[in-house]
Amino acid sequence: MPDNILEVRKVSKGFPGVQALKDVDFFLRPGEIHTLLGENGSGKSTLFRVVAGIYQPDSGGVLLDGRNVGRWNPAIAQENGVAIIHQELSLFPDLSVAENIFLEQSSFTTAWGWVDWKRAHAEAGRLLDYLKARNISPRVKVEALSVAERQIVEIAKALAGSNLRILLMDEPTSALSVEETRTLFDIMRKLRNDGVGIVFISHKLDEVFAVSDRVTVLRDGNRVGTENIADIAAGALIGMMVGRDLGDVNTRPASHAGGEAVLEVKNLSRGALVRDVSFTLHKGEILGFFGLVGSGRTELAETIFGIARATSGSILLDGRGVDIRDSNAALNAGLGLIPEDRGAHGLVLRMSLYENATLSVLDRMFPRRVVNRAREKDAARRIFDTLDVRYRDVSECVDNLSGGNKQKIVLAKWLLGDARALIFDEPTKGVDVGAKDVIHQLMDKLASEGMGIIMISSEMPEILKMSDRILVMCGGEISGEFRRGEASQDEIMIAASPGAGGKAAAG
Ligand SMILES: Nc1ncnc2c1ncn2[C@@H]1O[C@H](COP(=O)(O)OP(=O)(O)OP(=O)(O)O)[C@@H](O)[C@H]1O
Ligand SMILES: [Mg+2]
Repeated sequence: MPDNILEVRKVSKGFPGVQALKDVDFFLRPGEIHTLLGENGSGKSTLFRVVAGIYQPDSGGVLLDGRNVGRWNPAIAQENGVAIIHQELSLFPDLSVAENIFLEQSSFTTAWGWVDWKRAHAEAGRLLDYLKARNISPRVKVEALSVAERQIVEIAKALAGSNLRILLMDEPTSALSVEETRTLFDIMRKLRNDGVGIVFISHKLDEVFAVSDRVTVLRDGNRVGTENIADIAAGALIGMMVGRDLGDVNTRPASHAGGEAVLEVKNLSRGALVRDVSFTLHKGEILGFFGLVGSGRTELAETIFGIARATSGSILLDGRGVDIRDSNAALNAGLGLIPEDRGAHGLVLRMSLYENATLSVLDRMFPRRVVNRAREKDAARRIFDTLDVRYRDVSECVDNLSGGNKQKIVLAKWLLGDARALIFDEPTKGVDVGAKDVIHQLMDKLASEGMGIIMISSEMPEILKMSDRILVMCGGEISGEFRRGEASQDEIMIAASPGAGGKAAAG
């Protein structure tokens, strides 16, 4: 029996203007969790799609159990036990869990074309049982499930196909809480111990170290190397990914916080989601908001920014009360919000890069309403360079970019505006370590120029590194406040946990 369940040999794949993979080798053993690591646009998702039969490689080949697969497409890949869980989930929300799991199977169809639901439900229940997800009912519609639960249903669906042997998971943890991630890792380990080869993609290094057996690093479509996770340090891995020295990624130079208040929020409430929140954001300050998923941070941001109306309380900018009826009023008052869900809120996918970036500032850039395309593209190019966006041409369609580079375009869009205070909601979710460093430096630079910054983050290292002050939220309320350097990870976690230090959520 060959050592490798999967061999990707000298695979190249190009798109017009980009060589996404260059002679890449990748070997997967049965019963291992093998992480693919690399900057945004380095070729990870493309490699997945080649293995899953979605893309044909331009050259090179894929071998299963040492044999060339020959003709290869998604259906044949699936028959051979290869399953892919995409960066964006692909279930049908208005179908039930069992329907989703068995959608592509005909095993429950009787000779008359009827589906044997009793058996399908029992079998779905058995799969969910195996995944230790007994709380998910096979009968419930997928739209009623959380993202974490949907992910488990995707895995159940992969298991329902022919004998699952290779599971490709593209950033499965990006929308999960710490607890949900832990559950998912338990499932991955169980599958691994049962002999499944798992290829995992994540930008979070702590996760990579927690769950991987081996790691392969890609850079600009090249394979840089493969290492046992036990034999390599984080610094060395980062070096392989970015090919340059990032210096110490865990510290930030001195604070720029001044005494003057930019934004004052007084007794702000929005039903039970945001409850009596008061704080002051100063000039040049980076105010970190930590909390667990569902603690009310995004709801607070949306209320301040006028996406949702407050039920009580007031907001002052530069000492003057402002009435923020909607997000236009917020923009005019000098507030900006970089939302968490950048896919849905941020981009017009069929428009070009530069149009997306300048969309909301055209009025201000060209007050006489005569648009100068050359100047517009120039402004876009400059901000893309600052953010190190990997693109070919400012006129290309934004949908061609990799997941992380799309996020940078949304950032670019907001940075072209001229806000006095910016709210960043999970600013580095889904971006690689190099880009994360760039975004952190950028936030620091904006603060040094006097901008007040609110940074919502669920990543403890980011909160500790960037914040001048940390506010912790729990159940819609502020449950703790810490100064830079005074906070310990434990104290912050306790303040964030319902029933521990944090106040329990109502209802
Ligand atoms: N369908 C496509 N058409 C044109 N270019 C593409 C297409 N798919 C990917 N690319 C390009 O190929 C390169 C690799 O993209 P890929 O999606 O594999 O990156 P990735 O490593 O998954 O990045 P991320 O971490 O941001 O998800 C990028 O330059 C991307 O713009
Ligand atoms: Mg990707």
